[in-house]
Amino acid sequence: MRSKIAGIGHYVPERVVTNDELSRFMDTSDEWIQERTGIKERHYGKKHEETTTSMAAIATRIACERAGIQPEDIDFIIFATLSPDYYFPGCGVLLQRELGITHKEAGALDIRNQCSGFLYALSIADQFIKTGMYKNILVVGSEMHSMGLDFTTRGRNVTVIFGDGAGAAIIQPTDNPNQGILTTKLHSDGTYAEKLAFINPGSHGGYHSRHTGEEVDYGYPPKDTYGEIFMTQHMMDNGMQYPNMEGQFVFKMAVQKFPEVIMEALKEAGLQPSDINMLIPHQANLRISQFVQKTLRLSDDQVWNNIQKYGNTTAASVPIALCEAWEAGKVKEGDLVCLAAFGSGFTWGSALIRW
Ligand code: UT7
Repeated sequence: MRSKIAGIGHYVPERVVTNDELSRFMDTSDEWIQERTGIKERHYGKKHEETTTSMAAIATRIACERAGIQPEDIDFIIFATLSPDYYFPGCGVLLQRELGITHKEAGALDIRNQCSGFLYALSIADQFIKTGMYKNILVVGSEMHSMGLDFTTRGRNVTVIFGDGAGAAIIQPTDNPNQGILTTKLHSDGTYAEKLAFINPGSHGGYHSRHTGEEVDYGYPPKDTYGEIFMTQHMMDNGMQYPNMEGQFVFKMAVQKFPEVIMEALKEAGLQPSDINMLIPHQANLRISQFVQKTLRLSDDQVWNNIQKYGNTTAASVPIALCEAWEAGKVKEGDLVCLAAFGSGFTWGSALIRW
């Protein structure tokens, strides 16, 4: 038995934020952002009204309708996000509540794999479907980045990249041998965990530097003091409550890992890059996608890019892009679709799907 994507949906908030608008808060420019990333604009959710979970619920209802099921038919939820509504409980149960799934047979799982979150979620769903454990799995990626970014010049290398949005897919079994998920490939390497990270506050209690060897002054009290995992004024003053990234390092890893993991999946399936009808890369940077396209010798028609409109929506970027490509008629029955992602962790992965 194989798994198939039976329905897909996406949602982005109404509010569009242009590069020029960002340049009012920080020292940046439309020219710099477009040249380095390809991004023209992104969407931000409505503060106090929209959340990571509420956006996921909208995307999920669309996916359910297209799969011909009701939300209460969902028997397992896998929610990928790095920007959850709460520390705990996870967004999976919040989404279950928001969708009115009240039967107790349903399970919910949150995963924290950042940019490759949707790939990991899809692979988990694939395994559960193949074992016959579940029949309707919701895989969802949703991010509300705009609530946790540094809108000063200090944070410009990260802030200009990210946007809000959600994408959802219903995964079901199929006995059609010419359809479904052919393979998924997942990888990780924690060596460079801090190269792209959102570190504070955390149970490291201010001493994460033992991993990096770097001395970080968190303004914490002595090491033998307990109950001090929260933000200190010193941390707030120094912007330590925001994500940080060593952009060039991440870029170099990304352009290496994307082609590698795509080729790994193709090799296992006995296929070539030329067999791909549509590659949906995680939308990290248009220059990364173009590099991958060139390395694999793919034509413009074989690669979907929408980072120009949405920026990087992390766990939501692959399902949003897949959904848009499908809605545009660029993903059709019988097509070979390849999904791929790389990001914080580092974690990366790919999936090959016969649509
Ligand atoms: O999705 C998860 C995975 N993430 C990625 O794959 C992201 C990978 N990395 C990247 O996409 C790129 O590294 C960035 C877009 C983040 C940065 O582009 P870059 O070409 O690597 O720039 P850089 O970090 O080397 O910075 C070049 C210059 C610096 O100034 P100096 O030191 O040369 O004077 C930065 O301070 O650009 C400056 N800069 C900016 N200038 C205007 C950094 N951010 C900005 C900005 N506006 N927003």
